[in-house]
Amino acid sequence: MATEENQSESRLSSATSYAFPLKDIPRLSCNDRKALEMIRKSEPVILTDTNLVASALHWSLDYLADHIGDGNFTVYKSDSHKFKYYSDKKCKMVKEFRPPTVQMEMKFKDFAALLKRKQKERDCSEKIYLQQALNDSVEKTIVYDFVNFNWAWLTEQQTLNNWGPLTSNLLLVGMEGNVTPVHYDEQENFFAQIYGHKRFKLFHPDQYKNLYPYPVYHPHDRQSQVNLDCPDFDKFPNARNLTGYQGIVGPGDVLYIPMYWWHEVESLKDKGETISVNFWYMSRSVDKVEHPLSAQQKMAMTRNIEKMILQALDDPEEVPSFMQMLVLGRYT
Ligand code: OGA
Ligand code: FE
Repeated sequence: MATEENQSESRLSSATSYAFPLKDIPRLSCNDRKALEMIRKSEPVILTDTNLVASALHWSLDYLADHIGDGNFTVYKSDSHKFKYYSDKKCKMVKEFRPPTVQMEMKFKDFAALLKRKQKERDCSEKIYLQQALNDSVEKTIVYDFVNFNWAWLTEQQTLNNWGPLTSNLLLVGMEGNVTPVHYDEQENFFAQIYGHKRFKLFHPDQYKNLYPYPVYHPHDRQSQVNLDCPDFDKFPNARNLTGYQGIVGPGDVLYIPMYWWHEVESLKDKGETISVNFWYMSRSVDKVEHPLSAQQKMAMTRNIEKMILQALDDPEEVPSFMQMLVLGRYT
């Protein structure tokens, strides 16, 4: 049952959707020198012809249900269309924290049946989102498609850009309308779209001050506190200055999301559901630091300093007065 509060919230978000300026992310061939240059400079770009997941473009909800096997998959359930990530490990750090989504383990077949039931019933009250790292529990037909991803192109990019090892491939199967709210990751990401369309909003790391990330000890670490649908400008005044990029990816497209770039992702109304696989790579640490530091380097530094202070004080509640003592009247 919808409460009065979330009824007014959904009315607000559709009526007053806040329009900050967004430029289009370039769509380029992976053979275009400009595209390679953008990846090298850590700028987002949509690549149209990598053939990265050409071997998986026949995947659909039914195909995966029939072929992926009986392994367990992590499925998130949300009372709204938003799926804000939280760290299980950090939940105990904030006493009053209530997880915004419920995590479940399911067989893929059960997930597919549940998704179809929700679509048929037009049950909008509750949404589900499967997010599971591809692992060796998947059956051989899917492994075959996986082995036939364009690893040659990936390895070339990894070498050209001095990235570290591939850490994981996340399989994402979402319902139309699902939104992953704005956050950043600490890895390089080639995001491959397989089925349906997704809209991305991206923001440069220098938008940090406009996006007010949660403290690092908070379960919502790496997430923005700003709700992009209806920003609270009283609480987060710099959100008025937010500027970014947008782009839509469809089957076969690969979006490069540079490490520390903020992103919000929406599954569009199109095929009923969306299927994507991402490729997360460790960044290689730089041996020679050049000044002035980049926004990315400042973000990494901020995280480290915050962690150090937290560890030394051993109590998040002591941090604000400590930081004020450090700065106010001395560096202000
Ligand atoms: C990612 C990511 C969210 C989504 O791949 O880093 O945030 O909903 N994906 O696709
Ligand atoms: Fe992400």
